[in-house]
This record gives sequence, C-alpha cells and structure tokens, in this order.
Amino acid sequence: MCGIVGYLGNKNAVPVIVNGLRRLEYRGYDSAGIAVLNGKLSLVKCKGKVSDLEAKMNNSIEEASIGIGHTRWATHGEPNDTNAHPHTSNSGDLVLIHNGIIENYSSIKKALTQRGYVFHSDTDTEVLVNLIEDVMKSEGVHLAKAVRIALNQVIGAYAIAVIDQNNSDQIVVAKKGSPLVVGVGEGEYFIASDATPFLEFTKKAIYLEDDEMAIINRGQEIEVLSIPDNRTIDPYVHQLEMDLASIEKGGYDHFMLKEIYEQPKSIGDTLRGRLLPEQGLIQMDGVYQFQEKLLNAQRIIIIGCGTSWHAGLVAEYIFEELARIPVEVEYASEFRYRNPVITERDVVIAISQSGETADTLAAIKLAKERGATIFGICNVVGSSIARETHAGAYTHAGPEIGVASTKAFTAQVAVLNLIAIKLAHKKGLLKESYYHRLLNELNEIPRKIEDMLKSDAQSRYIAELYKDAPNFLYLGRGYNFPVALEGALKLKEISYIHAEGYPAAEMKHGPIALIDENMPVVVIAPKSGQYDKIVSNIQEVKAREGKVIAIVNDGDSEIAKMADHVIEVKDTMEVFSPLLTTIPLQLLSYHIAVMRGCNVDQPRNLAKSVTVE
Ligand code: G6P
Repeated sequence: MCGIVGYLGNKNAVPVIVNGLRRLEYRGYDSAGIAVLNGKLSLVKCKGKVSDLEAKMNNSIEEASIGIGHTRWATHGEPNDTNAHPHTSNSGDLVLIHNGIIENYSSIKKALTQRGYVFHSDTDTEVLVNLIEDVMKSEGVHLAKAVRIALNQVIGAYAIAVIDQNNSDQIVVAKKGSPLVVGVGEGEYFIASDATPFLEFTKKAIYLEDDEMAIINRGQEIEVLSIPDNRTIDPYVHQLEMDLASIEKGGYDHFMLKEIYEQPKSIGDTLRGRLLPEQGLIQMDGVYQFQEKLLNAQRIIIIGCGTSWHAGLVAEYIFEELARIPVEVEYASEFRYRNPVITERDVVIAISQSGETADTLAAIKLAKERGATIFGICNVVGSSIARETHAGAYTHAGPEIGVASTKAFTAQVAVLNLIAIKLAHKKGLLKESYYHRLLNELNEIPRKIEDMLKSDAQSRYIAELYKDAPNFLYLGRGYNFPVALEGALKLKEISYIHAEGYPAAEMKHGPIALIDENMPVVVIAPKSGQYDKIVSNIQEVKAREGKVIAIVNDGDSEIAKMADHVIEVKDTMEVFSPLLTTIPLQLLSYHIAVMRGCNVDQPRNLAKSVTVE
C-alpha cells in the first residue's frame, strides 16, 4: 500500500504532486508528505490525509520543478508526523519515499547505528535512505550506483523514489514487489504508483518490472537498469487508454456510489466483444491460448483475497455446475504458506482487482514454481499479477477508486461465468438450447441491473431503520452463500458494524444463538433450487424474533408475508443470480455507512491495494 508520486520537468511540481497524492489516497491515507527542491529542500509531512498536508503546507512551498510525495498506510511505526514520508538521510541530503516493507531493516539499522547513524522515526524507510547515504559515502559513488548497491543488500518489497538536495535534475526510482510507473511527457517525467496522477499530462507510461531501477535526468532519455546485474534495459512505452473522467466522481457523492451505479456499464464492458449471443459464441483470447490446459485440468485452484476471494467462491459453484471441473478456492495468504500439493495438471486462477496484492502475487509465484498453469483475472491493466501469469482475462471494469470493491466484484463474476460457460460448451456438457439461454441471459444482466438501480428507496429506508444495530447476520445458500459473505464484508468495511456471512443451513450450528429481536438478518432468497430450504431458514429466524431483510425476486409474495422487509431483484438463471443479488447489499451498506457518518471511500485502517503481506 502507500502511494508514491514524483515529478521532474518544467511545470510547478507542487500542485502536480498534491493532485497526484489525492488520486492515490485510496492506497493509504494515514499520513502524507511532500518534498521539493528549489535551491533548497522544502519538506512538509504530517499525520492525516492529503487535505491535512495541504493545510499544513498553507501555500508555504514555493515553486519547484522537481519533487516527490507520499501517502501512507502504516506498516512500521504508528501513523504520526515523524513516521510520515518523505524521510531524509542523516546529512539531510537524500530524501526518499517508499511503498513496501524492508524485511531485514532491523539488522541494517543495527549496523548503521554502530556506524554512528541516528534514527528519528520507527520506519524501515529511514533505514533505507541512510543505507543509501552510507554506500555513497563509504564507496564514493553517485546516487544511482549507491541505490543499486544498497538495494542488493535489502530483502523485501519496495517502490522508491530518491532525490539528492545537491542535484535538482535527477530522480532515481526502483521497484521490487510494489508497483511503479513512470509517465513520459514532453521534457518531463512523472512517477507514481499507478498512472492516475499523470493522466491529464501524458498517456505514455513505462511500468518498471521487479528488480528494475530507473535514472531520470532532466532533459535526457530515461535510463532503465537491472538492479542485480546493472544490465541496461530497453523500456517498453505503453500507450494508456484510461481517461480522466473515469477517475473522477462525476457528480456522485462518493466513488463507491458512482461505482455501484456504473455496474450496468462495467459488466457491459466486461462482456463486450466476448459474449456474442447472436453468433452463439464466447470469444476470449486468453482462454483460447490455454484452452487445452483448462479443459484437461484435473483441478482448478482459485486464489484471491477479500472480495476477489468471494468472486472465487461464486466461481466454484459455476465451474463445478457447468464445466464439471473440481474447484478449490483458497485465501492466497493461506495457500502460499501451507506447502500445497500442486501438479502440472492443475490450473490456478488468480483473481485480483488491483493486480498488486502481495499475498496473491506470492501464491502465484509458488504455484508457478511447482508447474501449475496460472490464469489471471485482473482489473488493472499492466499490473504485476497480470504480468506474472501465463494467460488471463482483464475484467475491464474501469478504475475502481472506492476502497470497498463493488463493480470489480461483479465484473470478476461475469468473466468467470464467461470462462465456465465456454469450457462447459467445449466439453460438450451443455445442451445447445441451454447454452444459448445462458448466453442470452448473461447478455441481459446489465439491463436488469440498470432497472434495479432506478430506485434505491427501499435499501435507504431499511438502512435508516437498522443503521444503529451493533450486529448483522447475512445468510445465503448455494450461489448466494458467497454473496452473503460479500454483503457482510461490505457492511464491516465501510460502516464498522460487526457482520457475519453464513451458509443459511449452518445457522443452526451456532449463529442462531445470536438471534433475538435486535438482530437484523439479511437473507438472500431469490427463487432457486433451494428456495424452500431458505424459506424454512427465514421461519427459524422469525421464530426467534430476528428481523428479516430478505432479498427476493420481483413479486415474491410468499417471503414478503414472513419477512420484515424485502428488497426485490430481477429474476435470472441461478448461475447469474450473484450478479443481481449483490447490488442491493452494496447499496444497503453504502447508505448505512453514510448515515453513520463514516468515510465511505476511505474506511479506517483499510487500503485498496494491499502490497504488504
Ligand atoms: C483489499 C481491498 C479489498 C480487496 C482486497 C483484495 O483488502 O480493500 O477491497 O478485495 O484487498 O484486493 P485485490 O486487488 O487483490 O482484488
């Protein structure tokens, strides 16, 4: 996590950096800082958000044409002014920003302390900037060489940018494990954790790979080097397709709300050019390349974290039902540390919105080492996971800025549906008529969501009634069990209400003890194979005076009679049900969070892109 920004060129670096930090605030927002060189070093940093930084700067920083900035999600050391980045070296010459973790920082710190270095913060970053300074001094080398030597001694993950007070024409950057992209403008360079800070200035971007560093000199071509062996690398310049409108709120109060309302479009974008119902086709290049592997997989292992893991759970039902391939779904963090049995006949599907989640990335590397074929499903184009996998499919949901994932989830589920249907059809498991029904119905999903989003009055009304409840229970069965988990996660994340998701049938093995007249129970109960069972579960809740908020299909009068409240969703085939039932749960948690005065887009302690394990 953490966002880093930098600028070197002819513009005033200060607004470029502050604006960039605002765009990267989704990555971390417990402290922020800026350092620029304009004859002297001007550095301001503080605990809090970028707006707090601006207040502290109070226009005190003069114009400068080179600078760096940081927005932090604390790993080492509590969020306070001292631990905020940038960090300076003991001489005051070097100034560094860092996203990642230096794992062996304590042994380096000890050695540097013995050599007389003094540390003011609790951060690993201050250790790194002093290590670079120590190399510069003891070996008599220039900054870039010192960075390279120092990084070869470091274990961990980093995206860094360093400037030297004595040289206002150079920024040195390096990457391993955390993302770093350089925007290439006319006579100017931008540095950032993702491309959003410089979209209005240039569409040309160089994504550094792990173990690469770049020396950026004013008025010169960028020089990219391999950190382990100092080899010169010819950088590939990407042409970005993202536009500015896609990263702005566009009239909505919050990014999360905008992203909820974007779902008809984002799912449409996910399906566009791939789902061709009139021709009876699903076209996916990534799947095509590895079709044989996928068709012959003895098992699919799906890995992910958070909401992406929930999308994986939905996929388990879809793949097993349609394509009859055994599926296991694992938290990436557990998978990577439990010595899993993986063979060359396994296909690993890694799901990640950001494409940068450290645990997912590490799990991919492990599975790859053991011979599995890795298929990635990412939203961020060019992200680390997208580059680390053998093949994949982008979700094309567009930038997701709200920390709580919404449109990325439905896009992931839509892509997984496409893949499962394609494989099932290829395996001859689907009757032609059923196959065509699937294609046509999937094609209808964006329109159905659009209809559902015409009014959110009911979820707003229910939010008003239950916004002060200390606990919520979410129940679902089959395809909608993962939706229950996702609904509970959304509520926890943004409203700080304790919520648990459960398979409805498991309620009797524990959670039922929690139910009394104060417990709101959200039951996801569209018409499906298990409808009668879930009706019984609702009765069990009502028998204990729990308050039932049921998500039902349009016109369901049976559940309406027993539930305290219903929210209606459109009818669809069971495999696609999560794409619709998720929507009211997103809205419910959004409204509750707003009514409780919570920071919806930047909930406390969370970050959108978790690049630490
Ligand atoms: C963080 C975010 C979640 C996200 C999870 C996995 O916890 O706050 O919204 O689901 O990371 O992220 P990924 O980018 O890998 O999907």
